[in-house]
Amino acid sequence: MSKHLTIFEMGPRDGLQNEKVHIPTADKIALVNLLTDAGFQKIETASFVSPKWVPQMADGADVLAGISRKPGTKYTALTPNMKGYERAKTANADEVAIFGSASEGFSQANINCSIAESIDRFKPIVEAAKVDGIPVRGYVSCIIACPYDGPTDPEQVIATSQMLLDLGCYEVSLGDTIGAGTPENTKRLLDAMTKVIPADKLAGHFHDTHNTALANIETAISYGVTTFDAAVGGLGGCPYAPGAKGNVNTLEVAQLAERLGFETGLELAKVEEAQKFILDLKQVLA
Ligand code: HMG
Ligand code: MG
Repeated sequence: MSKHLTIFEMGPRDGLQNEKVHIPTADKIALVNLLTDAGFQKIETASFVSPKWVPQMADGADVLAGISRKPGTKYTALTPNMKGYERAKTANADEVAIFGSASEGFSQANINCSIAESIDRFKPIVEAAKVDGIPVRGYVSCIIACPYDGPTDPEQVIATSQMLLDLGCYEVSLGDTIGAGTPENTKRLLDAMTKVIPADKLAGHFHDTHNTALANIETAISYGVTTFDAAVGGLGGCPYAPGAKGNVNTLEVAQLAERLGFETGLELAKVEEAQKFILDLKQVLA
């Protein structure tokens, strides 16, 4: 039996949160439906952040209400605070994610608070989600470098990750927010991290600013990480991380997985169809 690699599809959220053109809600719904059909088990579908901060994600509830849900597929959403959590719950998100940072500069720029304050904000979310039976994922941004503070010490990544796991996150996704990762610095980080946090609690979230994301993923796989975030068409970026490019392209991660002998459960022709849909749409709307 071949080994499994999970690709957590980010396109509708990380992919579209940074788009300059307005993507109509109906097209977001169509994209999620195409991705569902391609076989993803996890699709980050919405983001219940402040619509003043990220207007691109203001229609999250309508997107979640409009999609055709497939049993077994989880439609997930970002929740920065209790207000976001309540909105996500009302919209029937299957899973939520809290998102912190390993660097103070990005924490302030992205969620308007310190790392310690963010953990205090996340606590009630995890507590409520536990009661509601909603799984919570954690993100740690700026695992390699921060657009405001420069290079990140691996110990800071470990500290924030450990806090998120201690709160009750089932997994922490390691965000190379600006795509500063290389196989060398990814190795340095994972050498330190996997001594204290098991690889099966970690996922990789590499932005592909300098075309190193696939090599970083291969490095992370060698440490036993088998869940990776990716966005169809390589879309994405964070409005509060200047210089950040898109997430690693989903199709390329799926092809890498195949070459390395992993199965992903995806139909690549359908992933390509979803990619064509969103890239064509962006051209039409531009
Ligand atoms: P704040 O201004 O400090 O919030 O923003 P506040 O609590 O003081 O509230 C101010 C106003 O916002 C109030 O409204 C609240 O009701 C409203 P007003 O009284 O002025 O009318 N508000 C909300 N409205 C709707 N939904 C909410 C919500 N919260 C407050 N959830 C806040 C703090 C966290 C809300 C803001 O900074 C924010 O929304 N930040 C999100 C930024 C973001 O979405 N960034 C991109 C996602 S993270 C990412 O891309 C990285 C990742 O991909 C990993 C990686 O690559 O590293 C995950
Ligand atoms: Mg990201």
